[in-house]
Amino acid sequence: MRTQVAIIGGGPSGLLLSQLLNKAGIGTVVLERQSREHVLSRIRAGVLERSTVDLLHQAGAGERMDREGFAHHGCYLSSDQQMIRVDFQEACGHKVMVYGQTEVTRDLYEAQDALGAAHIHGVENVVLHDVKGAAPYVTWDKDGTSHRLECDFIAGCDGFHGVSRRTIPDDVRREYEKVYPFGWLGVLSETPPVRDELIYANHPRGFALASMRNEMLSRYYIQVPLTDKVEDWSDNAFWAELKARLPQDVAADLVTGPSIEKSIAPLRSFVSEPLRWGALFLCGDAAHIVPPTGAKGLNLATSDVHYLSQGLLAHYNDNDPSGLDGYSQKALARIWKAMRFSWSVTTMMHSFPEHSDYDRQMQRVELEMLATDPSARKLFAEGYTGTPL
Ligand code: APR
Ligand code: PHB
Repeated sequence: MRTQVAIIGGGPSGLLLSQLLNKAGIGTVVLERQSREHVLSRIRAGVLERSTVDLLHQAGAGERMDREGFAHHGCYLSSDQQMIRVDFQEACGHKVMVYGQTEVTRDLYEAQDALGAAHIHGVENVVLHDVKGAAPYVTWDKDGTSHRLECDFIAGCDGFHGVSRRTIPDDVRREYEKVYPFGWLGVLSETPPVRDELIYANHPRGFALASMRNEMLSRYYIQVPLTDKVEDWSDNAFWAELKARLPQDVAADLVTGPSIEKSIAPLRSFVSEPLRWGALFLCGDAAHIVPPTGAKGLNLATSDVHYLSQGLLAHYNDNDPSGLDGYSQKALARIWKAMRFSWSVTTMMHSFPEHSDYDRQMQRVELEMLATDPSARKLFAEGYTGTPL
């Protein structure tokens, strides 16, 4: 079997890349370890930057998002009882779209089906070969048979635990990592959101986030120690703790109900450089992880895919290698800015076991600046709505 671009991983990165390339007449095959149903059962963040919204339109996968997504012109940051609203529109002239990543993934799969794009699910033991040579290829097993796919390029879109990044030798790869000493316990419930915009809450008991998917579907999170297990948290205990961390007037309006999903995710910042090694290009979580506090994970994945698809188009259409040669540097510049934003909001909003009174004063003054200083609000709003591509 032969294709132009072999794509490892059928999450949002792999699907968007396949979609943009197929629309431009470039052949791809997506190799995904899991079933489509499994990929679509993952619950992830739900805030899209304008550049992600534009890319989904460009990919022909934005129609349902336009109908069912919600434009948000601001968000709240609470500090104990104080609610601080950052008006994105006023601070920087932009907005975000609230639309779940699961829905984005579903729309991309449907757009891929409409184009007749090639997907192979249930692949095992994927191996990348001759990545630095003239004739790269990928092998895998499926249903007891070995398969081989020859290609010009390989896109490593296989997430943090994938095989692509680890194909790059240790002496070429440089990794940067920060592991936070807590996780987020998330609950999805069929209840109306407590406010019409997101609330990021800093509280001495720990961070909380009130988010949403639509008028009757809410997503809430609380910071928990890494040692906690989902089974430790009954629905009642979750709601009680969430209420204790939100300002009292907000907590009084909270409608609770049974959880339809409950999970704990650790918080980590991670970057692997470079993003290119020979014919291999890394995109999305395969190359970097951000803590969810800034909702940047999906948005960074889509910007990587944009730069890579532009580079591949220039290569195939104009025989111009500059986009591919510059991919790693260009994508990393944007990745590090989003890293900084996610780290700064995480640091400002959470309770760290090692924090001193001094550190807590720093958090207080940062939030105070957001409440009172338009230039602080502008910087936050630009970070939240996203750096232009
Ligand atoms: N072979 C084939 N597929 C693999 C392999 C492998 N060895 N390892 C992992 N995969 C698949 C996973 O099953 C998953 O479906 O690669 C896909 C990677 O998807 P994501 O982890 O969603 O990563 P990405 O597409 O880069 O999306 C980034 O999604 O994961 C969130 O928080 C993340 O919002 C961010 C965005
Ligand atoms: C979510 O809705 O799941 C969500 C929203 C914003 C974040 C993180 C998660 O920063």
